[in-house]
Amino acid sequence: MTSEQNKDILTMDLRADGDDWRPTPHGRLLAEVLAKNFFAKGKDVLELGGGVGNHTVILLRQGPHSLVVTEIDDALLASTRANVERNRPPGSVIEYRVADWLSTEGSFDLIVTNPPFCVSGKQNRRYYIDSLILDAHHRLRPGGELVFIQSSMADIPKTLRRLDENGFDAEVVERSRGPFRDYYFEDETFMEEIKHVQDGYTVENGTYMETLAVIRGTLRHYAPPAIAHISASKT
Ligand SMILES: C[S@@+](CC[C@H](N)C(=O)[O-])C[C@H]1O[C@@H](n2cnc3c(N)ncnc32)[C@H](O)[C@@H]1O
Repeated sequence: MTSEQNKDILTMDLRADGDDWRPTPHGRLLAEVLAKNFFAKGKDVLELGGGVGNHTVILLRQGPHSLVVTEIDDALLASTRANVERNRPPGSVIEYRVADWLSTEGSFDLIVTNPPFCVSGKQNRRYYIDSLILDAHHRLRPGGELVFIQSSMADIPKTLRRLDENGFDAEVVERSRGPFRDYYFEDETFMEEIKHVQDGYTVENGTYMETLAVIRGTLRHYAPPAIAHISASKT
């Protein structure tokens, strides 16, 4: 793909109000990686937490077979819908759903997300990343892919290790370094927690820097042994 085509796929008219998530460097890096790699072409895609649709539009422009995008409540989903409808290619197939993370129906070839982390609101701040690693297999077909972004402060080696433990062949597709967002400093518990994450961040000439990583996991085929206390349909 030429850089001109790449620019076209990233160009869109997005608007945010109220509680809508404004795209940050995390969202922008994931957008660039999605724009360069046609992960969605011909696939059944599930996107979790669509926000203002910044990734949804790119995925739709790549010709998926179908796409389901979720948000946590009606108001946020209305914003996803308005933005996507303003920018999506005619004839693309999309369904908008209110759903709490992976609590939704269907089986898919690809799951894409920028999971909440710093402001996840959970005692385990990694909750949405860990939940994805543990439970995405309920929604993914064997051989299906998980593509998401996270910060070094969420512990990239831990994620890669847990993906492997849970049946994914995983790799970092792209890394990028950048300064902290201002809101990180507003949460003292966050600033304390990240001190304990190995290679979580650096401080360079007084500037706190994080690394962002786009991670791609491919679900290995698996059949539980006959003696497992679970039926094959529940795996
Ligand atoms: C980090 S933002 C990413 C938004 C957008 N995809 C982007 O990259 O700019 C996380 C998104 O997940 C949504 N979200 C939070 N909790 C959720 C949940 N339990 N289920 C689905 N979406 C959720 C938020 O409303 C927010 O839009």
